[in-house]
Amino acid sequence: MTYIPAETRYDQMIYNRCGKTGLKLPAISLGLWHNFGDDTPHQTKQAILHTAFDLGITHFDIANNYGPPAGSAETAFGEIMRTDFKDLRDEMIISSKAGYHMWNGPYGEWGSRKYLVASCDQSLKRTGLDYFDIFYSHRFDPDTPLEETMGALDYIVRSGRALYAGISSYNSQRTREAAAILKDLGTPCIIHQPSYNILNRWVETDGLKETLGELGMGSIAFVPLAQGMLTNKYLKGIPTGSRATQGKSLDPVVLTDHAVASLNKLNDLAAARGQTLAQMALAWVLRDGGITSALIGASKPEQVTDCVGALANLSFTAAELAEIDRISLERDINLWAKSSSD
Ligand SMILES: NC(=O)c1ccc[n+]([C@@H]2O[C@H](COP(=O)([O-])OP(=O)(O)OC[C@H]3O[C@@H](n4cnc5c(N)ncnc54)[C@H](OP(=O)(O)O)[C@@H]3O)[C@@H](O)[C@H]2O)c1
Repeated sequence: MTYIPAETRYDQMIYNRCGKTGLKLPAISLGLWHNFGDDTPHQTKQAILHTAFDLGITHFDIANNYGPPAGSAETAFGEIMRTDFKDLRDEMIISSKAGYHMWNGPYGEWGSRKYLVASCDQSLKRTGLDYFDIFYSHRFDPDTPLEETMGALDYIVRSGRALYAGISSYNSQRTREAAAILKDLGTPCIIHQPSYNILNRWVETDGLKETLGELGMGSIAFVPLAQGMLTNKYLKGIPTGSRATQGKSLDPVVLTDHAVASLNKLNDLAAARGQTLAQMALAWVLRDGGITSALIGASKPEQVTDCVGALANLSFTAAELAEIDRISLERDINLWAKSSSD
């Protein structure tokens, strides 16, 4: 059946300026890390993407290695672009990234110019797109001169493969260095993609959030729901089919009795605000305007609808914020800690 986008799609979404640039991003964006590989039915992917676009989510985030298998999320997204979304490219911001392992041998990961440019070309081919809106260095490479990695991003933009350059999981100091190199090259680094949520606040302790403000860069927070922990999903244990049962990135060992008790307390606080826990978690990420967009994942279209409902109340009282801090002592759930501390 032909997809016809909702006429109301721009009525409720909030669009935030990405730092001091001309680009606006939706306050909620959708990522395709999970649930867009070959293990998910095509109709589910279509339903999630249709719902997102109908609700004003104009930004879709992919990476070379999303699947499984690696690359299949880009292929699936490309197919839906060619069919359902074929006349809508100019209403969308589509990003991809390179940094993690993608193919064998010395040129299939990290930050060399050889890898970044080849990977970007592969990603364009898989998606069938002429260009990405944003292309990221997915992680800092301690063994490649930063000038080379940033030079590759500059080349990717100048050659028309992407419109903007971004970095992901770079710490505050590396972000300053990367931004300075790109500025000198004439291709500003417009966005940083860090992990950030109520349970993982490294962007605050590292000073990254402040740095981004100073540099005029935008930011898009990934795993804002701590991979589903900050939703109603795990309040009574671990349900079948949830990410924690799939042997993927959410290790069920983090869902200790103590953690689940804390999540239930956060859920009570969310209910008192008239929100679901997912909605409160997203509102918290967006609470002070320091983050341009919260980058969610979803396994069902209803989850996207619930998440966008967060925008109805993004403000917190000082007492609510203090209570969230009290309940949610930081937990060791930052899978990207190594990359962001290099
Ligand atoms: N730059 C990087 O290094 C990096 C790393 C990781 C992720 N990312 C980006 O961030 C995106 C989001 O990551 P993520 O999927 O881990 O984010 P997340 O939003 O923290 O977690 C998404 C998961 O939470 C559950 N969920 C979402 N909404 C829900 C709701 N309203 N009610 C109940 N459960 C809900 C679903 O779990 P179930 O699947 O169990 O239903 C969903 O798959 C990725 O797709 C990717 O684009 C970037």
